[in-house]
Amino acid sequence: MSSYLISNVSVVGAAPTDVLIRDGVVAAVGAGLDAPEATVVDGTGLVALPGLVDLHTHLREPGREDAETVESGSRAAALGGYTAVCAMANTSPVADTAGVVEQVWRLGREAGLVDVQPIGAVTVGLAGEHLAELGAMADSAARVRIFSDDGHCVADPRLMRRALEYVKAFDGIIAQHAEEPRLTEGAQMHEGEVSTRLGLTGWPAVAEEAIIARDVLLAEHVGSRLHVCHVSTAGSVEVLRQAKARGVRVTAEVTPHHLLLTDSRAETYDPVYKVNPPLRTAADIAALRAALVEGVIDIVATDHAPHAVEDKECEWAYARPGMLGLETALSIALDVLGPQWDLIAERMSRTPARIAGLEGHGLDPAPGVPANLTLVDPAARRTIEPAELASRSRNTPYARMTLPGRIVATFLRGEPTVLDGKALK
Ligand code: DOR
Ligand code: ZN
Repeated sequence: MSSYLISNVSVVGAAPTDVLIRDGVVAAVGAGLDAPEATVVDGTGLVALPGLVDLHTHLREPGREDAETVESGSRAAALGGYTAVCAMANTSPVADTAGVVEQVWRLGREAGLVDVQPIGAVTVGLAGEHLAELGAMADSAARVRIFSDDGHCVADPRLMRRALEYVKAFDGIIAQHAEEPRLTEGAQMHEGEVSTRLGLTGWPAVAEEAIIARDVLLAEHVGSRLHVCHVSTAGSVEVLRQAKARGVRVTAEVTPHHLLLTDSRAETYDPVYKVNPPLRTAADIAALRAALVEGVIDIVATDHAPHAVEDKECEWAYARPGMLGLETALSIALDVLGPQWDLIAERMSRTPARIAGLEGHGLDPAPGVPANLTLVDPAARRTIEPAELASRSRNTPYARMTLPGRIVATFLRGEPTVLDGKALK
């Protein structure tokens, strides 16, 4: 296997040092390392982070390979600094059996750009009526530990309770898309001043908050682990804060777009801004940012949701919700949090790896640790050109925006997947 010497690099914001990678692991960290056989990567001005881990990625395969494949999404992830992603179950067919999760897992291994950890559906066909084969998915080669009907809420409280009880046996997690469906019928955007002005049906904050409140009580009652997907409101933050204070086993994520963009984007009627849950208000954004810093929200997850042109470039009401995220997440985090490298490593790598139980990921470079890491140029600025993205889809809300930070290299178990900002396969 090959060796790489990353010279003069700042490890998670510390003073520059050298990092030697050999045989897939970090062999040494220290100034003035000498390794004549190693390929030198000049780390001057760069920050090394543990490889990013995304707990919420839509890869669209099987079923919508025109929008994304496991391979194209893996490439987008590597270019975004990720070494592992969790693939959501709302594919076609739905990932609700051992066969489908094994297929996604195998495709991830074949692509070899990031570790792809499938998430299994909670209910058969995401229909919210019968529990899927959670145990068979857990016992499969894909070793599924997180289950989610994301895109849909597990709205039936009895089913949610059963799911929490079922996964408790193997310390699994139910990841909830918190949306009380009766409160969001026909919803097109956040319910508030802008929706009233535009005459679009609103998606009220309470539809999210009511489900989170219910689910933390159920998780507390059962003693199981709950993860809340894409938290988007200030009220949800307060519900989570109280639950955590009581010791409920709940974790939560926020997306880059909910940290940056407000519902006023809907004034353009450009469906690229249509997403579920919807973009909220500036006050929500302020609460989400504070919660992320404080740790009430544990992680940033992308909710990378590629959509084909015909599903996005149409009338707002008919457009699918969702936006790309993998190739821009680190830049948005840098924009929102500033160069708080330890916080970024915590929220985008260490904690998501720990929640998902992904061994070998989320570990700072240190001797003996698997060399899963990414190199960021914090001084670079880049203008997002949708046509240049590796994703098969083009629905980025950041088109032609200039964002801070650039991923220079990503290493997966000691082999570069990205070098000089370019994917190697
Ligand atoms: O905006 C969204 N898009 N939210 C979801 O929950 C699902 C996702 C998708 O699959 O496109
Ligand atoms: Zn969702």
